[in-house]
Amino acid sequence: MDKLLVHGPCKLNGTVKISRAKNAYLPILAAVLLSDKKIHLKNIPDLQDIKTMIKLLEMLGVTVTRAGNITTFDASTLNSHEATYDLVKTMRASIFVLGPLLARLGKAKVSLPGGCAIGTRPIDIHLTNLEKMGCEIHLTGGYVEASVSKLKATHLPLSFPSVGATENLMMAAVFVEGTTVIDNAALEPEIDDLANFINAMGGKVTGIGTRKLEVTGVKELSDVRIEDVNPSHLEFVIELLKEMGGKISVGDNFIHVEKSVLKSCHVDTAPFPGFPTDAQAQMIALCTQVKGSSVITEHIFENRFMHVPELVRLGANIVLKGKSAIIEGEQKLNGAPIMCTDLRASAALIIAALCATGTTEIQRIYHLDRGYEKLVDKLATLGAKVERVK
Ligand code: EPZ
Repeated sequence: MDKLLVHGPCKLNGTVKISRAKNAYLPILAAVLLSDKKIHLKNIPDLQDIKTMIKLLEMLGVTVTRAGNITTFDASTLNSHEATYDLVKTMRASIFVLGPLLARLGKAKVSLPGGCAIGTRPIDIHLTNLEKMGCEIHLTGGYVEASVSKLKATHLPLSFPSVGATENLMMAAVFVEGTTVIDNAALEPEIDDLANFINAMGGKVTGIGTRKLEVTGVKELSDVRIEDVNPSHLEFVIELLKEMGGKISVGDNFIHVEKSVLKSCHVDTAPFPGFPTDAQAQMIALCTQVKGSSVITEHIFENRFMHVPELVRLGANIVLKGKSAIIEGEQKLNGAPIMCTDLRASAALIIAALCATGTTEIQRIYHLDRGYEKLVDKLATLGAKVERVK
């Protein structure tokens, strides 16, 4: 076992960078269990407790891969609901997997954490409140065995603002129909981090930073967050998508999009701040998938519908009439060989290909390279299967 030799006395002087907080990362790591999509986490601190939590996730079936400072978690391979004594005894925070396992699988078997150097810390607040949410809980053979057919939304006033219980209950509530209210919630900064992480995955936690956290259940964690963007530049497009039924929220530098059911639109391109001609092709591709028929009229360029015949090759039903494209919605697209006709058209064809069944081979992607940096990598980060081949 290593030891330290401290040579005192000494004065401290200079600048030091702090590492990321263990107690923020531990529940966030447990929360990856909630998603069946790949989660990429940057700069995870290199600490023993973090390694233990990752080992626990792997034992539960999560696939963990590392590339540089990015660790990717894929909990679509989750195949166990049991956190065994061997791991839990070395780290109390293993109890954090209880909430997400119940949310995802409706069952969990987690070894009781027991005491630690700073005293025996019970988990009664975790358990009584999970019971209020409908769980059946048994303590047998040193394990908490919990199961539930359907968690229910309810009011959970905590008898003490336990950090761990607030986190576990927040994770348990992510998919529960209705709104679960955690009252007298802990206020530690790591609670905000976990809530923001859940929201970034597509969950709905409000009241962040207050004693009353509200978790509104979502059906699935499927959403996209676009960062480092100035939403005011896209105001028309965002408003149009909202009118079409898009669940979109914006912040100073991000746009957050939830899975939505969209209806058709009638829109004309116009100079800024109107609907941009550079978004026309992508909107046409989108309109092949919405409910109802849309009309998009192009006023800026006279020949900017060259993507339409390519979209038709995928199965789209689009009729051109003068300056307008009339797009039939809810079209089933099928993969086919197609080619980019201009810069924005290339993005439109990729959108359509992502909606199509089967493989679409897109040629002339030099158009794409003119204006979209690393689009293939960005889409891969979001879970798309797009390959760039010679
Ligand atoms: C978290 O522990 C931290 N651990 C602890 O950090 C930290 O000291 C503690 O919060 C307080 O800030 C992690 O985040 C992994 P609690 P947690 O539930 O969640 C009682 C470190 O060194 N209680 O808020 O276990 C409990 O006995 C660690 O990094 C119940 O009675 O803390 C304690 O007296 C150590 N029943 C008090 O509440 C319960 O069900 C606070 O515990 C839960 C807690």
